[in-house]
Amino acid sequence: MKFPKGFLWGTAMAAHQIEGDNKNSDWWIWENSKKKDQKYPLEASKEACYSYYRYKEDFDLCKELNNNAVRISVEWARLEPNEGEFSQREFDHYKEVLKAAKERGLKTFVTLHHFTNPMWFSKKGDWANFKAPKLFARYAKKCAQEFGDLIDFYATINEPQVYVMMGYWNGTWPPNKRNPFLSLSTQIIMILSHRKAYKEIKSVNPNFQVGIIKHIVWYEPVDHLFKFVDYISASILNFANNELFLKPLRGTLDYIGLNYYFHTKLKFLKTKNPNDVVSDMGWWVSEKGLEEVIVNLKQYKVPIYVTENGAADAEDRIREKLLKKMITACGNAIKRGADLRGYFHWSLIDNFEWHQGFWPRFGLVEIDREHNLERKPRKSFYYYAKISKDNKI
Ligand code: BGC
Repeated sequence: MKFPKGFLWGTAMAAHQIEGDNKNSDWWIWENSKKKDQKYPLEASKEACYSYYRYKEDFDLCKELNNNAVRISVEWARLEPNEGEFSQREFDHYKEVLKAAKERGLKTFVTLHHFTNPMWFSKKGDWANFKAPKLFARYAKKCAQEFGDLIDFYATINEPQVYVMMGYWNGTWPPNKRNPFLSLSTQIIMILSHRKAYKEIKSVNPNFQVGIIKHIVWYEPVDHLFKFVDYISASILNFANNELFLKPLRGTLDYIGLNYYFHTKLKFLKTKNPNDVVSDMGWWVSEKGLEEVIVNLKQYKVPIYVTENGAADAEDRIREKLLKKMITACGNAIKRGADLRGYFHWSLIDNFEWHQGFWPRFGLVEIDREHNLERKPRKSFYYYAKISKDNKI
């Protein structure tokens, strides 16, 4: 299966998960103020992978993977440490990072918000605050002015509905709220924030490519006598994590970044996955959902990129199989007419998996936490390097 010329092959990462010492953020504070009876986070991010200093080494690995693109994020808490006060030193730092990526022939996908907030923003009520669109758009504009075309693809927000689910619905993540009303209003505020940021970035240069990163789960009814019950619930759920959020963004999406991890089979409203292949976190690995989700995104008539897909797999048991199945699903979606232009594997290196700490290992490259965070490519790394080199599977 051959991929179109210019198809982007890359890996994806996020600042807080790899950089280390992200001290000015709400996550850092939460991680370091754990109470005795509190289950999460299992550990704190501390030095993470020290990619803040070791980014060149990481990009060398991207080059060794024969990749032509990379997805990273910049940390708002570093760039705007106090409200309205930007740090030139940090902007310069990220310019060096982006230049290092470009020097290695990598197109840059950059997320402006990947789950973490500056402390000052968090104190103001973060994304539940009606002023959030204005505050976020000001920061987005400043990024566009400073970074310019060092960024090839601007991504405003990563997985807004996951942020809301974890932070406002089940309360596992900061700001640790459980509030149905805020869960709804925060989603609306995030939609408005994307729209405003999109306009501000475009005002700097209308040619900049701006999109959002959306996780989408594929729900499917299991075949049984009363299948219609699940058919209805699957349709509602598919609509809720796709159209309900993306339709209000129409006209402010130059592309859609899709994060795909889950395919959920439903029987009488309960999950009934066959679990023939599962990751270390128990997530079922199924490629069929990916193909369906990509084809379903055709309706927005903009290019699509798979901006995350992968699995926690410390022993590298299933990663090669996953790559093969998922990338084949991408190829099939293209055959069905989807304008899919890239695939980014999550992740290049093992990293800080949020409230779970460091035990889930998502990397094509192992991070040896006992020995100076040494980077050690796993077997699947070479498998992905070949796909990327040949532009085919
Ligand atoms: C997030 C990543 C995360 C990955 C694996 C996505 O939801 O964007 O930050 O590490 O999934 O859980």
